[in-house]
Formats: sequence, structure tokens, C-alpha cells
Amino acid sequence: MDLSFLRRCLILLCLSAAQSGHTAVQTCMNKHQVVGLLRQMEKILKGQEIRFTEGLRIMKSKLASLQNSVSKLPQADQSAAPTACPSLEAPTHGTKFGSKYFVGHEVHFTCAQGYQLVGSATRACRDNGTWTGAGAVCKDVSECASSPCQNGGTCVQGVNQYRCTCPQNWSGSHCQHQTQTAPPEWSVMNDPAFSRRPRCAQVNQARHCSCDAGFHMSGTSDNSICQDVNECEVYRLDQGGKLCVHECVNVPGSYHCYCPSGYKLLPDGRSCEDVDECLSQKHNCSQGTSCINTGGGFRCVNPECPRSHGNTSYVKTSPFQCERNPCPMDSRSCHHAPKTMSFHYLSQPSNLQTPATLFRMATAVAPGRTGPDSLRFGIAGGNSRGIFVMQRSDRQTGELILVQQLRGPQEISVDVDMSEYSGRAFQAKHVARVHVLVSPYSF
Ligand SMILES: *[C@@H]1O[C@H](CO)[C@@H](O)[C@H](O)[C@H]1NC(C)=O
Ligand SMILES: *[C@@H]1O[C@H](CO)[C@@H](O)[C@H](O)[C@H]1NC(C)=O
Ligand SMILES: *[C@@H]1O[C@H](CO)[C@@H](O)[C@H](O)[C@H]1NC(C)=O
Ligand SMILES: *[C@@H]1O[C@H](CO)[C@@H](O)[C@H](O)[C@H]1NC(C)=O
Repeated sequence: MDLSFLRRCLILLCLSAAQSGHTAVQTCMNKHQVVGLLRQMEKILKGQEIRFTEGLRIMKSKLASLQNSVSKLPQADQSAAPTACPSLEAPTHGTKFGSKYFVGHEVHFTCAQGYQLVGSATRACRDNGTWTGAGAVCKDVSECASSPCQNGGTCVQGVNQYRCTCPQNWSGSHCQHQTQTAPPEWSVMNDPAFSRRPRCAQVNQARHCSCDAGFHMSGTSDNSICQDVNECEVYRLDQGGKLCVHECVNVPGSYHCYCPSGYKLLPDGRSCEDVDECLSQKHNCSQGTSCINTGGGFRCVNPECPRSHGNTSYVKTSPFQCERNPCPMDSRSCHHAPKTMSFHYLSQPSNLQTPATLFRMATAVAPGRTGPDSLRFGIAGGNSRGIFVMQRSDRQTGELILVQQLRGPQEISVDVDMSEYSGRAFQAKHVARVHVLVSPYSF
């Protein structure tokens, strides 16, 4: 039906009515025609109304989805108060932890082995949309940079260590010893227990003398003496190639390595290995406590469940796990309290190379049931600011990463939480309390 025809008829109707009162209807059309026309118009309007409503509905839903996607953009409007900081890149030869640039979030940086971080290891996004601290740069820490080789020695950089190659007549790890008949600095002098007479033989009028292994000949050719070489001293400064990982003791002609108590010497004669007191039943942990092996010792632990408060209470389901008792239906605070709390003890050596993944946390889904459709991981507490980063590693797993080297002995505890969501709705929270027990030694 042509709308313009209707419009013309309507105008005609109104104009005539205005000009000559109700009699005008008869001058334009008869009553029957007008009623028919009005019915037709009613039908058309009904059709238009339906189409219009449908159009509005589509527009409304498009508008809503647009609003939704605009609100998800990190930087919505520069003129309004900033909600995010500019994105940050990982430094060359380094790693960046944290990919959220919103106000209040932190980003951490570490450098690869052989590089040292200059600038800020941690940067936080300030309220005004700028980062705290200075940009992180990874600088080469080549040990040769400090010219450690003496007397014209050449420095050769290796992985995590260096070696000096010495010119003729010089030796030692830093070419500090002159090779000559005078005793070098590292031979043991003035101690008869560390001297031997050389073994000499007369061959064709010439006298040839030699020393046992581990001894060095000194003195003049007709009055020579074999003096012990202090191997511990010779290799004292050797990086990586140290004779003993812990303690070196010089003995005539040789040396011995010793380990700290709680460690045993390995068959290679230089490395130390922790003794697992818990495994070998050498511990005296009383009943009801659990033995935790640590570097050089052990610990007896009995972790306690969180205290009951309000409608929230816990029961211990295993030595290292607590579960929340069922909550009353309408107790919000109870439903938001951790559903499970687990305890973990990690024994680590000093100066562990970072970044290091220490701990993983994942959801367990009963067979035949669908799990949560999203997870959020975080660090909930403990004395560990800036030492750890918690990040998602895949859909179901989060990992706790050590980003700062730790020197023992010390103990650090960190509470890691994992919240489960199903379609945006909070389902449950799980907390893991991780105790990192750092030994005084780096082995
Ligand atoms: C942002 O705030 C910090 C201190 O809160 C200030 O030092 C800095 O100059 C501010 N930057 C801008 C661009 O306003
Ligand atoms: C090394 O020492 C020997 C004997 O003292 C000497 O004859 C020789 O010239 C020295 N060589 C160098 C390169 O200094
Ligand atoms: C275990 O033995 C050590 C010393 O050997 C002692 O200091 C500690 O108190 C003992 N612990 C228990 C629970 O008996
Ligand atoms: C405990 O749960 C009841 C409902 O069962 C609720 O009325 C009450 O407020 C809750 N108490 C606390 C401290 O949350």
C-alpha cells in the first residue's frame, strides 16, 4: 500500500474539516469510503508499529553490545581520569611478569642469566596513568669487564665463569704466579709436614730430581725441596670450577672436601647432597606432627586450620588440608571464605636462579561435571611483596613464580588464592599457604 496516497487523503480530510465543518466529509468521500479508508490506515499503522518496535529492539541490543565492548577497552578516554598506564615491553635479554596495565597493578621485570637489571624491577600503575620507577634495562655482566687477569693474561668469558690464559712464565687462575724456581705463593712453606725430599737419580753425570704428585719443587738445583701445593688456595677464586662446593681442606700432596652438617659428600668427592632425615627416620617429630625435610635439617609441623568465626568453620581432612564445613544457605560471608586451605612446604637452596616456578595450583573437576568456566589467581597475603608473582599458566592452572633471589637461612610464607567463577558468578575460593624454607647454602 502506498503511504503517500494515505497521507494525501488524510491532509484532504483535515483541510476540508477545518474549512467547512463536519459537512466537509461528504464533499470529499462518502461515509462508507471513509470508514474503509480508516480501517486500511489502521492496518498499515499496526504493520508499521510492529516493524518499528522490531527495529528499536535490534538497535537497543546493538547499542548494549557496543557499550559492553567499549567499557572493556583499557584506555577509553584520555581526557577522563586515566584507568590504565601505557603498555610496557620486556627489556631485551629480560622477562616481564604481569600483563595488566590498570591503575594499581604491578609489573615485574627480571633479566636473563649473565645480565643485571638496571632501573626498577617492579613498577606500579599510578592514579594519574603513569608508571612508578624507571624503565628496566638488562646490562651484560661479563666478568671479563673488570680485567681480572694479571701480567698480560687474556680473559676468556664462558657461561657464568671466566678463565685466564696466561703468557709464558705465568700461571694461576689469574696469572698471578710466576713459574720459576722460587716457590710460588700457594705452596706450603715452613711446615715440615708439608715438605718432602725430592727423589733424585744420577743419569749420565746429570742429577735428575722429581717430586710426588701434589708437590712442587723449589730451591736451587743442588739443594731442592718438594713443597706441598695448596690446591684449595690455587682454586680458591675459580668461578664454577671450585674444587669443593663447600669447604676445602689442604693435606700434604692432596686436599679433601667437607660438607656442612646434614649433608653428605657425593662420590665425586666435591659435591654435597642433603640428607633426608624424614625419609631415613632420623627425626624425632612427635606423633601428630609431620616431618618436613629442609636443607641440612628437618622441621616438625602441624599446620592449623583457620579459626572459626561467625558461620564459618573448618575441619582438618588430612595433615596438610582443611575444608570448610557446609555454610547456611544465606550466609554470604561464609560462602566467600576459602572453601579449602592447603599447606605446602618447599625447601630451596640459597640464590636460586630466577625466575623459577615454585608451585602450581589447579582446579579438580569431578568426572561428568563441568568445572568453573573461569579462574582468578592472586596473592592473598604473607610477607612476600615483590618476591613472587602469581600468574595463570593455562586455562585450569596458575603458577607461583619466584622473581627475586633469596639468600638463606630464611623462611617466607605466601598465601595464594584461586577463585572459581561460573558465568561471572563467584563459586568458591581455594587458598594454598606456601612456606618457602631457604637453606643457607646454594646446593
Ligand atoms: C603523576 O603523579 C606522580 C606522583 O603521584 C607525579 O610525580 C607525576 O609527575 C605525575 N605525572 C603526571 C603526568 O601528571
Ligand atoms: C721465562 O723464564 C725463563 C727462565 O727464567 C727466561 O729465560 C725466559 O726469557 C722467560 N720468558 C719470557 C717470555 O719472559
Ligand atoms: C628433637 O631433637 C632436637 C635435638 O636433637 C631437640 O632440640 C628438639 O627439641 C627435639 N624435638 C622434639 C619434638 O623432641
Ligand atoms: C549466620 O547465618 C545466618 C543464617 O543462617 C545469618 O542470619 C547470620 O547473619 C549469619 N551470621 C554471620 C555472622 O554471618
